Amino acid sequence: MPKVTFRFEGREVETEVAPGTNLLEAAEQCGAREGHACGGVCACSTCHVYVVQCYGSLTEASDQEEDILDKAFDVKPNSRLGCQAEVTNENVVADISAESLQAWYDENPKERAERDERLRAEGKAIPPPARDLRDL
Ligand code: FES
Repeated sequence: MPKVTFRFEGREVETEVAPGTNLLEAAEQCGAREGHACGGVCACSTCHVYVVQCYGSLTEASDQEEDILDKAFDVKPNSRLGCQAEVTNENVVADISAESLQAWYDENPKERAERDERLRAEGKAIPPPARDLRDL
């Protein structure tokens, strides 16, 4: 079975998935911090990832995915929506976007409070909610 690796906050987590599994499902399977405000119905862009290995092996983006990606923060040529990009038969590596990571924290207030406390202790800035990233 193909392996999916997610990179975020300086770490990597991975899982094996059946072909046809989308990247958001893979992220949930291995505890990767990928947001999903709309619940995976291609309506929000908070599952935005950058595919850094085997981009071309994923199922093709639909017009609807492209339309939603147009509204995402910091879109790059290797951007995909995790809830739409399905794994085929090759291993994939994806970086979770800043928007998606922040959306995950917005959806998980306990972990967000812990992260914010750690950042404060390190003298670092606290990121704004994901919905405000586009206004920066
Ligand atoms: S979870 Fe909303 S577009 Fe993917």
